Amino acid sequence: MGSRAGRGVPHLPPGRLNRESRGGNRNTRRARAEGGPAIVRPSDLFARSAPDNPGASPKASRPAAADSARTARKPTGDLATPEPLDRPDAPFHALAQREVGRILEAAAAGAAFEVETLHRIVAGMTKSILSGDDLLVRALTEDDPTYDLARHMANTAVFAIKIGHGAGCRTEELPWLGLAASLHDVGMTVVPRHILDKPGPLTAEETSLVRRHPEHGFRILLGLGDAFEWLANVALQEHEREDGSGYPKGLREDEIHEYAKIVGLADAYSSLTHFRPYRDKLSAFDAVKELITAQRTRFPDSALKGLIRGLSTFPVGSHVRLNSMEIARIVATNPAFPLRPVIEIVAGPRGERLDSPRRVDLSTNTLLYVTEACSGKILG
Ligand SMILES: [Fe+2]
Repeated sequence: MGSRAGRGVPHLPPGRLNRESRGGNRNTRRARAEGGPAIVRPSDLFARSAPDNPGASPKASRPAAADSARTARKPTGDLATPEPLDRPDAPFHALAQREVGRILEAAAAGAAFEVETLHRIVAGMTKSILSGDDLLVRALTEDDPTYDLARHMANTAVFAIKIGHGAGCRTEELPWLGLAASLHDVGMTVVPRHILDKPGPLTAEETSLVRRHPEHGFRILLGLGDAFEWLANVALQEHEREDGSGYPKGLREDEIHEYAKIVGLADAYSSLTHFRPYRDKLSAFDAVKELITAQRTRFPDSALKGLIRGLSTFPVGSHVRLNSMEIARIVATNPAFPLRPVIEIVAGPRGERLDSPRRVDLSTNTLLYVTEACSGKILG
C-alpha cells in the first residue's frame, strides 16, 4: 500500500541484514548537509556512469547494487526459475490478481498456501513485459476509485519488473523480483477493510496498525519454509528507505535487501499513479517526477534509474532532452513502447533551434533516448 505511515514499529530482526550504515550515498549525504532533500534531475542520476543504450544488454550496465542483491541474498537452493505460464495471449495481469487474491484470502484465514502457481504466472508476465508494454499500459490504466489490494500487488509486480530490468537486474532474476513484489503487501491482511477504505487521515492507532503490516507479512511468508526467507525479508523491508526514513526499523542503504528497494519504489509508483480513498492519482509522468525529486533521497540511484528507464512516459507536445543533449518535442506516443515515442528534434545541444525539425521514431532508433523532460521555454 502507498505509505500514509512513517516509522516507529518495534523491530523484528531480519537476521543477517543488520549492519552498520556507511553514512549515506552521495545524495543522502548532500541532503543531510544541506538540511533537506536533494533536488535532482534525471540527468543527474545518469551522470555517474556513461549513458548507455537502453536497448543494450543489462549486463553491460549493471549497477553494483544489483550485484549485491544477487550475491548476498538471492533466492536459494531448490527455488529454480519456474516454467512460465507461456501463452502469449494469457491475461497475466488478471491471472496474477486472481492468484494474489486467493493467497490473501488464505493468509487472512491463517491457512497454508503455495506460491508456485503465482510464480509461474509472474514468469509469464516477465516474458510479456520484456517483449512489449501491453501489461504496463494495463497496470497503469486499469483503475477505479475503490482500493483493491490484490490489483495493487499485481500492478506492483509489473512495475517492479520494469524497474528491475531498467536497473540492470538479470533477466532470470526478474520473476523472483516480480514474485516478491506480487506478495509484498500480504501483511495488509491484518488491517481492517474500513481502514483501507478510509477517505481521510488515519488516527494514530490506525496508523500504528498499518505500520505493522511488513512484520505481519514477514511472519506469513516465513511459513512457506526456510527457502523463502528472502521473500519474507523483502516484505519486511519494502517500506525501509535508503535515507533511514522508512519503517519498521529505519534501516539504511545496504542494510536493506536490494529487491525490497525496488519493490518499495514500485509500490510507491503504483500508489501515486492510482486513486486512493484519501487522494487523487498523479499522471505517470508526474509520479516519476515526484519520486526523483521530492522523494529522491529515499531510493537508491540504481532503482531510480530503473524507474526512469522503465516507467517514464511523456505527453504529446511536451519537450524532452535526449542523451545527445538535443531537445525534442513528443509528436506521437507508441502504444507498444510508451517509453520510445516519436519525436521531432527541434534544437541542438545548446538550445539553438534547428531550421527544419528532424523526425525520429525512438522505437526504431535505439541510439537515442530521452533523459529528461524539459520546459519548452528553454527554446527561447
Ligand atoms: Fe506495504
